[in-house]
Amino acid sequence: MGRRVLLAVGGGAAAIKAPLVVRRLREAGFAVRTLATRRALAFTTELSLATVSGQPVATDAAWFAPSGRVLHLELADWADLVLVAPATAADLARAAAGLSEDLLSATIAAGARRVLWAPAMNPEMWADPAVAANVGRLKARGHAFAGPAYGAMAAVGEAPGLGRMLEPEELAARVRYHLSQKDYAGRTVLVTAGPTREYLDPVRFLSNPSSGKMGYAVAEAARDRGARVILVHGPTHLPDPFGVETVPVESAEEMHRAVLERFPKVDLVVMAAAVADWRPAEKHREKEPKRGQEKVLTLVRTPDILAELGKRKRDQVLVGFAMETERGLDRAFEKLKKKNLDLICLNHPTDPETAFGADENRLVIIEPSGRTEAWGKASKRALAERLLTRALGFMQKPV
Ligand code: C5P
Repeated sequence: MGRRVLLAVGGGAAAIKAPLVVRRLREAGFAVRTLATRRALAFTTELSLATVSGQPVATDAAWFAPSGRVLHLELADWADLVLVAPATAADLARAAAGLSEDLLSATIAAGARRVLWAPAMNPEMWADPAVAANVGRLKARGHAFAGPAYGAMAAVGEAPGLGRMLEPEELAARVRYHLSQKDYAGRTVLVTAGPTREYLDPVRFLSNPSSGKMGYAVAEAARDRGARVILVHGPTHLPDPFGVETVPVESAEEMHRAVLERFPKVDLVVMAAAVADWRPAEKHREKEPKRGQEKVLTLVRTPDILAELGKRKRDQVLVGFAMETERGLDRAFEKLKKKNLDLICLNHPTDPETAFGADENRLVIIEPSGRTEAWGKASKRALAERLLTRALGFMQKPV
């Protein structure tokens, strides 16, 4: 996977976010260099870009790289991907016409391997047929686009519209997508994530603190690796990932229905959702008034989704999660057998460093043979990647 990203900053108001784009790209593990057009430096500064990237900024003021090579040739060679963010209408027009009158257009004309444009401009400009024609020409040459998004405009008094640059985090996610190996191409992956809510009445429910982060990380990693991804999720605070079919549900029953309906066409299921095991026997139609000092709740079991999939599975690969506070390994292994899984991942819910909602986790992976492997603390994304690599090894069915 390519790891070198050149962030080319065009001269729009969104250039003030360019240092943050560098940060997010570096956090995602990319080596980043920056290029800024003359207009971009009216919005952001060379010093801030150099500080966050740890590299000198390439500008129109220089012709030669420190190596002595012509700068635009050196940059085009160095970068696995050029992200133009923000890209102005003029940047698009120059590249579409094959002009090379500034360092940005010259770098693209010099044969940059991959180019990802993040346009940002007034909605009227984005809607201009000349801009659309330039976008079409660049797409025809294999260039990719991220955004623009609908939202507020920088200039005072402008109405919101389609023309906002995608947020820095979203841009980093798009870059990762474009630079990932597509070893899941042709596969369909269904992931469940988040908690479920089991309602007592219209406003009260039983639930748990699952954030959904582990499941979303699996879904995003599978998408980046070329899979078609369906994410069935309970209520979370996470934004819908791009390029993923999301199916929001609330109760275990709803999740059960949503998953079973889609299961026949799926190659891999990763059940990362913290599905409630019990629900109130009855759900009151109206909010229950408080009466007396005590109340007894009768609970009934929810359907065990994974166990049901285990019975129905043909060549699908099934991965479950287990969260135990004691006898973790034994219990997780029993679950793997009982539910007919290919892999189970044991979480440690009481570990303060990796508890509910954390960005990092540690897992113990258990296989049907009883073989276990401890995966030390890492980001949920890194663990998701490892899990997908392991699951790919279990797939019998050719694409
Ligand atoms: O049996 P237990 O709930 O501990 O098993 C955990 C695994 O089973 C998780 O992968 C979870 O998503 C799944 N599960 C399920 N349906 C339930 C309860 C748990 O699919 N009703």
